Amino acid sequence: MSAPFPTRRLRRLRKNEKMRNLVQEVTFSVNDLICPVFVQENLKSRTFVESMPDIQRLPLSDVTQEVQSIKDLGIPAIMLFGIPEKKDEYGTGAFADDGIVQKAASEIRKSFGDSMVIMSDVCLCQYTSSGHCGILNGNIIDNDSSLMTLSRIALSQAASGVDIVSPSAMMDGQVKAIRNALDEKGFSDVGIMSHSAKHRSSFYNPFRDAADCAPQFGDRKTYQVPFTNPREAMREIEMDVSEGVDIVMVKPALSYLDLIAKTRERFNVPVSAYSVSGEYALVKGAAKQGWINEDEIMAEILYSIKRAGADMIVTYFAKKMAEYLNR
Ligand code: PBG
Repeated sequence: MSAPFPTRRLRRLRKNEKMRNLVQEVTFSVNDLICPVFVQENLKSRTFVESMPDIQRLPLSDVTQEVQSIKDLGIPAIMLFGIPEKKDEYGTGAFADDGIVQKAASEIRKSFGDSMVIMSDVCLCQYTSSGHCGILNGNIIDNDSSLMTLSRIALSQAASGVDIVSPSAMMDGQVKAIRNALDEKGFSDVGIMSHSAKHRSSFYNPFRDAADCAPQFGDRKTYQVPFTNPREAMREIEMDVSEGVDIVMVKPALSYLDLIAKTRERFNVPVSAYSVSGEYALVKGAAKQGWINEDEIMAEILYSIKRAGADMIVTYFAKKMAEYLNR
């Protein structure tokens, strides 16, 4: 009896590296990376974030140097997060003209001109004494008064030289409110990348260490999307698109690949994905134990996010991935 010959052989195209390169479907470039940068007001020297190995909070004086190292790797964009010295009820530090993000953005703009895309987080949780992403009315996070504050934050960041503001507060109507405010004040060329489908997630916990923004009571369930509701996530994206968003986002990324794929299929706007702090910490933690190969796992995860349909990825691995790609 003769051996049963396969009539189709997929292994032909896998036989050596050049052949595999030729048929590679999903590609990844440094141009797909957005690197988060944490700047802390009145910080003396760089401080490591315990739950996010290799990630640092920077003093203002170190920001230019850090952005230079990001630029040298070929990464086109940064995402600025500020940690203010003082918090208050209204999160005033978030929209102060001399706030930490505003200062950092204007320094970066001065030093780098158009050679770095500056994005900035538009939210309140680092700045409010409650640690919530909006303004309180009693114990309720008040949607519409929060919109006014979010608009002020976006305006002050635009005035300091930010290219793209990135609201992450998950208030209804935040894109429209910010778009109107920007247009009214002559910032029609400043874009909006909304954290459109931002889920209530325990994957954010390490970030709360980095940015000191844990809610002081309750949780974020009244404003962030439940991870059980994919249709609701699509309604969030739909709303942002109808309000004139430039780039939508699915967040977190790794446990939400289905939603990245759906967003890619259904909407003709650029899609970003935020591979969040917990995704980073899982890899770093296991790598530290010697249980996985950090670089290979990092690449496999980030490629999977692109394969799902993301055009760009915010990731704490941005610099490491750029080094990997440049190798
Ligand atoms: C602030 C904000 C958070 C993250 C980004 N912006 C925290 C939160 O919503 O609790 C999380 C990012 C990460 O985990 O890497 N609204």
